[in-house]
Amino acid sequence: MALERLDKILSGTGRWSRREVKDLVKAGRVTADGAVVGRPEDKFERAATVLAVDGEPVDGERYVYVMLHKPGGVLSATEDPRQPTVLDLLPPHLRRIGLFPVGRLDKDTEGLLLLTNDGPLGHRLLAPKKHVDKVYFVRVDGVLDGADAAAFRAGMTLEDGLRCLPAELEVLSSPDTGLVTLREGKYHQVKRMLSDRGKPVLYLKRLSMGPIHLDPALEAGMWRPLTAAERAALEALP
Ligand code: URA
Repeated sequence: MALERLDKILSGTGRWSRREVKDLVKAGRVTADGAVVGRPEDKFERAATVLAVDGEPVDGERYVYVMLHKPGGVLSATEDPRQPTVLDLLPPHLRRIGLFPVGRLDKDTEGLLLLTNDGPLGHRLLAPKKHVDKVYFVRVDGVLDGADAAAFRAGMTLEDGLRCLPAELEVLSSPDTGLVTLREGKYHQVKRMLSDRGKPVLYLKRLSMGPIHLDPALEAGMWRPLTAAERAALEALP
C-alpha cells in the first residue's frame, strides 16, 4: 500500500498549488472518506481513498492534462534560453511536473495546445494511423476555392517533395478564410500546403484535436485543466 501526502496528491492534479491545498485544508474544505483532513502532510493511499474538496470528489489521477490557448509569439517547447515558451504561461506548480506540449504549433500559430505528462497520449493523438483530426482556422493571402479543396482531398505532393495524406479544406463565407482538417502534423504543414497552392498563410489557429475543442471562454494566453468529460474522451481514443 503506497501512502502519499495529501498536498502531493492534490497538487498533482494540476488544479491547486501546494500553497492552495494548505489553505483548503486549513479552511476544513478537504475530506478523506468523508472525514475532514487535518493537515496537508497527512498521508493516504490515493486509489483507496475518496478525497473531496467542498464535497466534490477529486480523482487522484497520475497524469495532468492542461488546455492552453496558445498566443502568437511563444514557442511550443518546454524550455528555451532566449524566448518565452508555453510553459512560461503556466503557474509555477505546473512547471515542475514534466508537462510537455502534445504536438507543436509554430511560434506565430495560435489556438489549442494540450500539455500533459502522459507520454502515450501524444502517440494516440498524433500518429496519422490513429486518424485523429486536427482542425485549423486559416486566413490566406488570396482567395480559396473548390480547386484548393479538391487538391487537399486528393492528397497533395508538394513541390518540396512532402507527400500529404488526404485532407479537408472548407472555404468559409469570406473566401480568404477556411477550415483545414489534417490527420497528420508535418513541420509547417498547413502553411506549406497553402503556399504550394500560391496562397500563403497570414494567420493560423488550431481549433481542435480529436475530441478536444478550444474552449471559447479561454482568452489567448489562458489555460485550464481538462474537464473529466474531456479526459474521458481522450481515454476513449483507440
Ligand atoms: N501547420 C502549420 O503550418 N503550422 C502549425 O503551427 C500547425 C500546422
